[in-house]
Amino acid sequence: MSTATIREVVRGDGDRFVYVVSALAALNGLLFGFDTGIISGAFLFIQDTFTMSPLVEGIIVSGAMAGAAAGAAVGGQLADRLGRRRLILIAAVVFFLGSFTMAVAPNVPVLVAGRLIDGVAIGFASIVGPLYISEIAPPSIRGALTSLNQLMVTTGILLSYFVNFAFADAGAWRWMLGAGMVPAVVLGVGILKMPESPRWLFEHGRKDEARAVLERTREEDVDTELEEIAETVNKQSDSGLRDLLEPWLRPALVVGLGLAVLQQITGINAVIYYAPTILESTGFGGVTSILATVGIGTINVVMTIVAIALVDRVGRRRLLLVGVGGMVVTLAILGTVFYLPGFGDVLGIVATISLMLFVAFFAIGLGPVFWLLISEIYPLAVRGSAMGTVTVANWGANLLVSLTFPVLRASIGTPSTFWLFGLCSLVGLVFVQRFVPETKGRTLEAIETDLRDNVSLLD
Ligand code: BGC
Repeated sequence: MSTATIREVVRGDGDRFVYVVSALAALNGLLFGFDTGIISGAFLFIQDTFTMSPLVEGIIVSGAMAGAAAGAAVGGQLADRLGRRRLILIAAVVFFLGSFTMAVAPNVPVLVAGRLIDGVAIGFASIVGPLYISEIAPPSIRGALTSLNQLMVTTGILLSYFVNFAFADAGAWRWMLGAGMVPAVVLGVGILKMPESPRWLFEHGRKDEARAVLERTREEDVDTELEEIAETVNKQSDSGLRDLLEPWLRPALVVGLGLAVLQQITGINAVIYYAPTILESTGFGGVTSILATVGIGTINVVMTIVAIALVDRVGRRRLLLVGVGGMVVTLAILGTVFYLPGFGDVLGIVATISLMLFVAFFAIGLGPVFWLLISEIYPLAVRGSAMGTVTVANWGANLLVSLTFPVLRASIGTPSTFWLFGLCSLVGLVFVQRFVPETKGRTLEAIETDLRDNVSLLD
């Protein structure tokens, strides 16, 4: 074998390894999606087993989001202190415990406890999945690999619809909720064999290990990348939440927090969590609306794949602009369709197609690009804490929308609710245009240097 061919083989190995590592870490996303999606189906049958007050019902459904906000609040700091890999292991164990507790719950308090525990794991996973992948991926394919996490979120949601469907006849809600234990075990066992993030290792003085991980995951020479990492590590002061308030970090914080809130207040989870209810109001029967819901879940997965194929080529900004722009238009149509009198078959079909297109536009932009950008734009020293803060805002906004959507529909009506989401998307479009930077193809260290040197993130 010639030298060139040997090198090619080695290159192939490095590539393959980083794909395997990223795919495994993306199981965090699968659990995130599965555990947020499964409750919609399980809940129908839990009601047959236990008698609950409306307040407790609310806590069971949205408890995961509250737990996730709490998990995200501490998860970021834990990722900085314990390391990314250890937090993934902890998340896997907590996922297992949460699913197990819910599956065997003898009464409502235990069920609520299980749901909250599960939520904490979702919060951990939502930070550490993208964080770990972005730090281990080579810059040229970092967008695609990190977005694998979001692909798994959407796959998890779709899978939960199928599992709900499979166990629905038997009303086996314990199996639905317990099914989450399977990916948790795979993630927990798998992560034991995966390396730590090279950037975290370097920052904690374990330079040789950092080099070894880079060498295993890179085709090219790793010296330049190591030098860049060394430079940013040397520049940093004491890390911690206080640093987040430093003026030079403000633009990145504004971008992260803005996108976190916009990702939710534009209404995606009103559709993801309430699709069957919305579709039934278009006159579809139960079965048709469940099928259409599966259709929506499938479109979410497929368009995320399209985004992954494009994100390192056309860039983050362009995907966001097209995605959010499309959401404005489809939401305006949805509001109008529900507003028109004499809602009939034709309008029902237009509404369904618009809902599907709305999800498609989310999946190509705000869905994956939000999680990707927040794993790229923060300096190493505060990356975990910054992502934690931003992720708490995301879960808080999620909780707000999922709790208020039914109330909004009942008070201002369906058309105005969609128009309100449309207005939020319009604000989002202006925000993206003005504030969101392009990070395509750059090393995380180059992005950090620009931020420190006060170079406008938009240049
Ligand atoms: C969001 C979730 C949402 C999911 C839908 C994620 O990026 O954070 O709130 O349910 O996308 O695919």
